Amino acid sequence: MPDLDPRWRQDTPGCSSVIHLNNAGASLVPQSVLRAVTAHLEREAVQGAYEAADAAAPELEAAYGHVARLLGAHPRNIAIVENATVAFFQALAAFDFQPGDVILTTRNDYVSNQLAYLSLAKRRGVQVERAADLPEGGVDPQSVRDLLRASGAASGAKGRGGRVRLLAVTWVPTNSGLIQPVEALGQIAEEAGVPYLVDGCQAVGELPVDVARLRCDYLSSTARKFLRGPRGIGFLYVSDRALARGDFPLLLDMRGADWTSADAFALAPDARRFENWEFAHSLVLGLGEAARYALEVGVEPTGLRARQLAADLRVRLAAIPGCRVLDRGRELAAIVTVEVAGHSAPDLVKLLRKQRINVNASLRDYAVIDMDQKQVQSALRASPHYYNTDEEVCALVDALAKTAL
Ligand SMILES: Cc1ncc(COP(=O)(O)O)c(C=O)c1O
Repeated sequence: MPDLDPRWRQDTPGCSSVIHLNNAGASLVPQSVLRAVTAHLEREAVQGAYEAADAAAPELEAAYGHVARLLGAHPRNIAIVENATVAFFQALAAFDFQPGDVILTTRNDYVSNQLAYLSLAKRRGVQVERAADLPEGGVDPQSVRDLLRASGAASGAKGRGGRVRLLAVTWVPTNSGLIQPVEALGQIAEEAGVPYLVDGCQAVGELPVDVARLRCDYLSSTARKFLRGPRGIGFLYVSDRALARGDFPLLLDMRGADWTSADAFALAPDARRFENWEFAHSLVLGLGEAARYALEVGVEPTGLRARQLAADLRVRLAAIPGCRVLDRGRELAAIVTVEVAGHSAPDLVKLLRKQRINVNASLRDYAVIDMDQKQVQSALRASPHYYNTDEEVCALVDALAKTAL
């Protein structure tokens, strides 16, 4: 495991006050992110908000560059929006789903994404198909292939993808450490000619992202989780392929297009056609700084350290009588979920918070398919990041061991 660099903790004001193992909720921001946000708010207060935005134009532009670099993309491919859900929904809204069209997904896609598919089923007659899982957990790529073939993708019926209009996959779900095989699925989607949307919300900042290897049309994310940016801001990667297809969201805002004559509009040439005009500019700057900082510390080694801390935590928790570690899958991310017999996860969160240990709870309705399969109503979720120490992980284990007794 890569060693702790003391600078990471010196850079993170929150490290001196809490044991923060809730990075899958919202990470502690580095000082430089905090400063980027507050400095802009201060400028807005003294200069006027529109004027401050004009003055910060080069830094705002640079924020797109940092996010793009983090994904192996170009600034023209980045749309900045309020959060990961909005980013995902803007991508979904680029498809004119017709009755009978299939959205192919997994059994572990994020709750709000599943709700959106069900909403599209109700409103547009879309069919939602979920690929089967492997016995060890995680989607079975062969099942995705089979469902594409069954839908007519191979025979070329109704466009190359057959009835499947979209493959949508959550890279790392919210309620477990599962890492889905997103690169393999991207290859399958490309071969079938089916657009591919990846929810990278719990991956960005922990797992290296290269959109060329993912072969995705879209990737959505937030700033606040493993990327360590502020709350209330997210982004959507829009591929050149999607831009060239002329994709745009169902409802356009004046930032996404120019109103050129009474009945006509011209789309923004780049991913900004997925944005809204109004922004929290301070948060855009915070997002940009978080991406720059992540590039500086290196996503590859720091992510490895986060996953190793999580792996150690799983081993320690599994040794506590009454604790059942719930994460399944070939590869696991820095999200650890555990059921503690006789204790509801929300109660444990409150108890631990009194001891200045931050973790979170995942409830059954955050992931009904997975949680029902595991037969749990709620799970405690601990999500270390690279700035956490072994001692902090042990403090959580000790606290839970006392509680589980
Ligand atoms: C996998 C995943 N996708 C999407 C989201 C939604 O992110 P946001 O709250 O920024 O919309 C979350 C939030 O927990 C998540 O875990």
